[in-house]
Amino acid sequence: MVIETERLLLREYTHEDFPAVFEIFSDPETMQHYPRPFDEKRTKNWIEWNLQNYKEYGFGLWAVVLKKTDDFIGDCGLTIQNIDGALLPEIGYHINKKYWQRGFGSEAARAVRDWAFEHTAYDCLYSYMKYTNIGSYSTAIAVGMKKIKEYPDEKNGISYAYAITRKEWRVLER
Ligand SMILES: CC(C)(COP(=O)(O)OP(=O)(O)OC[C@H]1O[C@@H](n2cnc3c(N)ncnc32)[C@H](O)[C@@H]1OP(=O)(O)O)[C@@H](O)C(=O)NCCC(=O)NCCS
Repeated sequence: MVIETERLLLREYTHEDFPAVFEIFSDPETMQHYPRPFDEKRTKNWIEWNLQNYKEYGFGLWAVVLKKTDDFIGDCGLTIQNIDGALLPEIGYHINKKYWQRGFGSEAARAVRDWAFEHTAYDCLYSYMKYTNIGSYSTAIAVGMKKIKEYPDEKNGISYAYAITRKEWRVLER
């Protein structure tokens, strides 16, 4: 177990999570802001990439599990992403659509934000997304981030980048 919140546990991915991960990432509605939904191979690579990230960086996207039921409902964590040409620590999140709009995405992202400022030396954390991804940028705002730039991007057409500094985080009411 890595992080505990009021309703959630964030723990490392395992290969056994595959069916629950595939249910999320193969869904066209969930993946509407991505080039395409994931197939089985891409989903396996996603889990593998995160297992690799734990080894390389000590963090990655973690499985988000409901404490009450032990149901796997998504992932959330920290990865290094290319944001307009710079490699930056990014908070990412994907929640099963059965659980959308119940505060789980922002509860997980807040916990990752706190973990990152407490356990790494990064002075700024980012989230980026396709400009159409309202759920994603609303979640970034919900964890205290502000929009810092809009830029043209091969993958997204236009991307928005949100960020929170360590200084801003220190004065947040938590
Ligand atoms: C982004 C995502 C993780 C949000 O998860 P969630 O559990 O629904 O988020 P929350 O319930 O914590 O909502 C956080 C805020 O976003 C808002 N929000 C969430 N989805 C929304 C939507 N589709 N449209 C408008 N607002 C939305 C909520 O109302 C809430 O706002 P508030 O703080 O003002 O109350 C979820 O929509 C998702 O998995 N999307 C698909 C995967 C994806 O695109 N991930 C991001 C890649 S960049």
